[in-house]
Amino acid sequence: MAERFPKDFLWGASSSAFQIEGGWNADGKGMTVADYNSFKHSEKQADSRVASDFYHRWREDIALMKELGIRIYRFSISWARMIPDGDGAVNPKGIAFYDQVINCLLDHGIQPFVTLYHFDLPYALAEKYNGWESRRCVYAFERYARICLERFGDRVQYWQVINEQNLMIRVDERMNIREPNLQKADRMRAQMDHHMFLAHALATRACHELVKGGKIGPAVSSTCTYPLTNRPEDVWAARMNDNMKTVYCLDMHYYGAYPGYYLRYLEERNIVPVMEAGDEAVLKDGRMDYIALNYYRTLCASYLPADKEHPVGMRVCRGNEVDFDQYGYFRDEKNENLTASEYGAQIDPMGLRIVLNDYYSRYHLPLMITENGLGMADTVSEDGKVHDSCRIAYMKRHLEACSLAIEDGVELMGYSMWSFMDLLSSHQGFRKRYGLVYVNRDEKDLKDLRRVKKDSFYWYQNVIRTNGELL
Ligand code: BG6
Repeated sequence: MAERFPKDFLWGASSSAFQIEGGWNADGKGMTVADYNSFKHSEKQADSRVASDFYHRWREDIALMKELGIRIYRFSISWARMIPDGDGAVNPKGIAFYDQVINCLLDHGIQPFVTLYHFDLPYALAEKYNGWESRRCVYAFERYARICLERFGDRVQYWQVINEQNLMIRVDERMNIREPNLQKADRMRAQMDHHMFLAHALATRACHELVKGGKIGPAVSSTCTYPLTNRPEDVWAARMNDNMKTVYCLDMHYYGAYPGYYLRYLEERNIVPVMEAGDEAVLKDGRMDYIALNYYRTLCASYLPADKEHPVGMRVCRGNEVDFDQYGYFRDEKNENLTASEYGAQIDPMGLRIVLNDYYSRYHLPLMITENGLGMADTVSEDGKVHDSCRIAYMKRHLEACSLAIEDGVELMGYSMWSFMDLLSSHQGFRKRYGLVYVNRDEKDLKDLRRVKKDSFYWYQNVIRTNGELL
């Protein structure tokens, strides 16, 4: 049988700093917005203080990565571990930590795949400047990015600038937005988004300047929206749902300019961000080299007309804080054709094939899946093992979709599943687990933090060993 995946396919596993590291204030690390938010729920659930304790167990964890056989490990650097207050003194112990991790990965034959910023803005920047609302945050990020690129760029070739800017910008808690007035909050959001685009472009330019052969891109939260019916209005609503939530962001990283429909929305809401002379040139100079994408689910939308109380462009969240509806454009709907995970994510491997084809035909850039996985309430069975057959079935179907997309002509560099080990989920602490490796702790009881390889670990190990046999 012909091989389904290219010989040099980058099989990997992923994580992010605040979700695994722990050691939240160890060796000089500063608090982050992610720490701050997780501490708000400390009474009830796990927080980032210890998380999976990677900060102290990285040698053991990297040995497990080697055993799994992954070719790349996708992780993020904590800005506040490198520069505790975001724009002040550099923390040598932070540098030393990532130096050791990167060297150990390379010694084990694993390529580091590094994200600069995964939801964890140094909290000091939120206090000093209200974070991304200020241009000072842009320059603080550029400085931080340059330090990482200069320091680690001799060993790290692949970089992602910001994880899921397009999703993070919608979540007030992550952006530290506390403005109750919707229009004012959206104005602040648009300004923050603009600043992150500038930061993205500046970091991209810095990578091209400082890292020989380096490749850099965004890691977007991909969306694929189906129309609820074949009414033309619903088809348009589905397109706009993708455009407003993801595509405008990719266009910014590719063309360096807001697409017309997005400018129209910003004008309708009277929230056009302040742009300075020179911004346009910076944005155009920061073109992404590849697209990293995270894929979990698909969406469904119908047309939502505006009315007297709800002017065109007004956004409201109905269910979770991520899936907003937009008046005059779209409304989120349930897709009755799909089943959902126990945590409500609609499972849809075909959607992944659609997304991969869509992004590739739009930009003709290599694609890399940096997150895909199933959150479940795994437990250790009486036999001491973790039987996660649902996760195996999920990964198998999504990898089949990848191989079909490759046959469709998509240039897919690799697949890095979420997540290497159990980690702090955004809302459900350690109740919802994604790992191939179980971490023996629960919400409040740290137990022994022992690592247990799940059934999916052995299954994926075989997939990697055979370069894609999906048994
Ligand atoms: C992605 C994030 O959006 O989804 C991860 O990049 C996150 O950080 C993952 O953990 C799963 O979401 P959740 O809410 O189930 O943890």
